[in-house]
This record gives sequence, C-alpha cells and structure tokens, in this order.
Amino acid sequence: MPIRRLLTQGDFFGERNVTEATDNRTQPLVPFLKWAGGKRWLTSEYGRVFPATFKNYYEPFLGGAAVYFFLDPPSAVLSDINSELVATYISIRDDWKSVFRFLKEHQRNHDQKYYYRVRDARLMSPHSRAARFLYLNRTCWNGLYRVNLRGQFNVPIGTKQAVILNTDDFEELSKKLRNVVLRACDFEGAIDSASEGDFIFADPPYTAKHNHNGFLKYNHRIFSWADQLRLRDALRRAHDRGCLFALTNAKHRSIADLYKGFPQKTLRRFSVISGEAHGRGRTEELLIRNYST
Ligand SMILES: C[S@@+](CC[C@H](N)C(=O)[O-])C[C@H]1O[C@@H](n2cnc3c(N)ncnc32)[C@H](O)[C@@H]1O
Repeated sequence: MPIRRLLTQGDFFGERNVTEATDNRTQPLVPFLKWAGGKRWLTSEYGRVFPATFKNYYEPFLGGAAVYFFLDPPSAVLSDINSELVATYISIRDDWKSVFRFLKEHQRNHDQKYYYRVRDARLMSPHSRAARFLYLNRTCWNGLYRVNLRGQFNVPIGTKQAVILNTDDFEELSKKLRNVVLRACDFEGAIDSASEGDFIFADPPYTAKHNHNGFLKYNHRIFSWADQLRLRDALRRAHDRGCLFALTNAKHRSIADLYKGFPQKTLRRFSVISGEAHGRGRTEELLIRNYST
C-alpha cells in the first residue's frame, strides 16, 4: 500500500483521541517467562499510555507478553519469530497439565549435571519441549535466550533454583490463551494482518543505528537496521488502515528521526538486563504512538 504522507503531531492528537486505560480491572496474570527487554516495568510505571478501547490486540514481538497480560484483552493475535517460544505458549494452552507434570520432574531433579543433560537432549513431545523451555528460562544464566548457529540453546546454568514459581497459574493461563491466535512468524506479516480499530503493541529488539544496545541477538538472526526500516513501514501502513499502534524503542536520534511526525514520549526506567554491575542503572527509552490518551 502506498504511503500517503507522514502526519504531524497535530494530526495525530486531532485525529485519534482515545480513552486511556484505567486501573479498575481485576488482577492481571504475571508473565511466566523472564525475557530480555520484558515490559513489566512499562505496565507498572506507565500503565496509562495504552488505549482502553480497541478491537483486536496485536503483539508481534511477544517475548514474555507483559503488555498482553496487563491489558488482558478479550481477543488477541500474539506472535514472535522464536518458534520454541511460541510453541511453549501453544503447549500450555492446549495441555497445561502435561507441561506442568514435566516441569515438576525438572524441579525434583535440578542440579548442574541435570541442567546440561536436559539442555543438550533431543526431545520429541511438544509438552516436554515446552517444559524444558520453561525450566531453562528459569534456571539458566540471567534468564537469557541465546542459540548457536544450529539453533541450539547454549546459555550456561545460572544461580536460581526455583523451577516452579508461586506466581505460576498454568490453568488460568491456558484458559486465557484459548481466545488467542498464536503464530511463529516475522513481525511484518503479523502487522499487515491488523485492521481498522485494532491496537498493535510493537516492542522490537532495540537496534539503533549507532550500536546494538547489548541484547539485539535474540535468535540466530540479528535484528538489523533494515528490519527497523521494515517495521516503520509496516506501522505506517497500519496507521493508514486506521490501526492504533504503540512502539517502544531505544532513545536515540536515529529512532526519533525514523518516526518523525509521530508523538514521542521519553520513558525512564531502572535497567537490570545486563547481569553485570556496569550494565545496570537508569536508562531512557522512547514510546511512539499514533493516538493520544
Ligand atoms: C524486546 S523482546 C519483547 C519483549 C516483550 N515485550 C516482553 O514483555 O517480554 C523482542 C522480541 O522480538 C522477537 N523478534 C526478533 N526478531 C523478530 C522478527 N523479525 N519478527 C518477530 N519477532 C522478532 C524476539 O524473539 C523477542 O522475543
């Protein structure tokens, strides 16, 4: 679809003034994965930046799904390029009891030798794969997800011992995911399938033009600057179709320039992603939206 023109801030505030999300909902589910770039901080510190009303919810960079759990929409299309991640959501939705059974076994047996045996094993059933994904996520070094060129998870063991968490509620999660379309795919097709009135929350890996921000390589594929351009174009097309969108990204001039004309807000947070003391501290990120609250 041809791009009509880049609208100015005035256009956006004039055109799409939606009611802001309010806090009077029931207690949302807690994300069950620790995920690099996870947005729990955004939902707890900036919960009012999301629109309260929209048709379908789209989250094309799903990860730990913090914003999906927070908004708790009645229908959603959730996707990520990481097929093991998406398969884990699908297994929990379709048969959480089997996943939980395997997870309890991991909890009973967890130690260093067992961790590496499970990490390097070839597993067949979708439920054992999902339980392994959860087990490794909870016990590996700093909750990282990293694979080698053959796509094999290669993060060493961490210090955490808890495989089952007291926030786990797989039964409730499974119920919630029943109304959800889950897809392992690139973001572009997912965004292109959103229609007028739908809300897209886009939280890509934070590549800026000047650096990699420490954690851009989630899978064996790197999220490049060309991907950032593709994303901007997909969001512009979505805007032209009448979708609402919110995008988080690095606070860097290259990103601000990329979304020139869209309202931009600086978000401040305490970062703990690096796992090393020098990587922690207060950081700033950008929130770009095509609606006002
Ligand atoms: C910053 S994380 C999202 C974190 C999520 N918002 C949360 O709260 O946990 C970015 C996600 O984008 C996914 N990703 C990377 N490249 C992608 C692509 N081309 N298409 C779709 N997803 C991609 C990664 O697998 C990762 O899960």
